[in-house]
Amino acid sequence: MIKIALMGHGVVGSGVAELLEDKSRELEHKAGETLSCAKILDLRDFPDTPYADRFTKDFNEIVSDSAIQIVVEAMGGLHPAYEFVKACLEKGKSVVTSNKELVAEKGSELLRLAKEKNVNFFFEASVGGGIPIIRPMHLCLAANQIDEIYGILNGTTNFILTKMIKEQMTFQDALLLAQKLGYAEKDPSADVDGVDACRKICILASLAFGRQIYPREVYTEGISKITLEDVEYAKNAGYAIKLIGQAKRLSKDKCCVLVSPAFVPIDNQLSGIDDVFNGVLIKGDAAGEVLFYGKGAGKLPTASAVVADIVHIAKSSHTSLSLTWEDSNADSVADISTYENAFYYRLRGSISPKKAEELWGPLTFLSRKGQPADEIAFLTGCMLQARAAAIEQKLGGQTEILGKIRLLA
Ligand code: HSE
Repeated sequence: MIKIALMGHGVVGSGVAELLEDKSRELEHKAGETLSCAKILDLRDFPDTPYADRFTKDFNEIVSDSAIQIVVEAMGGLHPAYEFVKACLEKGKSVVTSNKELVAEKGSELLRLAKEKNVNFFFEASVGGGIPIIRPMHLCLAANQIDEIYGILNGTTNFILTKMIKEQMTFQDALLLAQKLGYAEKDPSADVDGVDACRKICILASLAFGRQIYPREVYTEGISKITLEDVEYAKNAGYAIKLIGQAKRLSKDKCCVLVSPAFVPIDNQLSGIDDVFNGVLIKGDAAGEVLFYGKGAGKLPTASAVVADIVHIAKSSHTSLSLTWEDSNADSVADISTYENAFYYRLRGSISPKKAEELWGPLTFLSRKGQPADEIAFLTGCMLQARAAAIEQKLGGQTEILGKIRLLA
């Protein structure tokens, strides 16, 4: 029998407890051992659950119980999750986490510690909810150098954008609906400002490029400035606006990583990924493009990924030494000013199309129903971010930038 402790009985933790209980026979068959949830750490009381007797408020009851082999961290946040996970690894317990902030900030250190202690630190649920992506990237694509990853990594923002595109709902109304349906938090900033997607692309980039990519190094832009006008221009030109996390290998030691809204061509597979679904495209040098698609959030999808990690640990008699990455050499992420792509602009003011072409070069002009006489919208050619910024400086005070969105490069 393998004894497991859960830290955190929120959305994900309660899903893990439920799956371990409800599917105990199937899981025993798959793991080759009984998986028993022995303790659950939470500051709240849950007297109505079938495992009410297993709750504790004292972390020491978990860390100092030598019979507990696997600890699931589903508390979220960096502290005290980091301290608790570190203490469990130091005591020789394997840890499974769904906490993307923890992995994005402390992944290299915790992976190194797990290796030293000959245990596992697994985090399949930290990216893409129920979509298997960490283990497929690390094991199934082992023969590949991964050169590029890009995708929709946040369900809440994808739901909001889908409502704006398909039902012409405003950003504010779509956000309220997302909150009502329980997708977005009361404070939705981590989703809406791109912070959550940033942590996830950092984890995937760290795994692909072999060194820790920290969220603070990554240019991150959210979706709160996107309007229905932008959505309409995009649609008329054959694009859908999506929040995209992207990481590209530039050389042995450099990569570019960013999170921003992007015009995605409708013939790109990501443009059809709607609602709370996530989709991630990975380009390997042997396998080519591989698309991962599924529910990126939610209680049971995320718990499914956690339980898969538990089963993997239970089945393997040794540590997964290869699931690791180095700490970063501070300048491995290239500066955003050096990134190249085309842009969509929406301007209001006295600027004429001719003047715009003098500044940006040849442009594709876009139109929409009810377009005011003093509004122009266009797509530029491919250019350095630095050049786009320099051109914007040349616009006189009579012209206002109402919208600027990258085209997926
Ligand atoms: N808030 C996240 C999302 C949950 O909407 O995708 C899963 O990380």
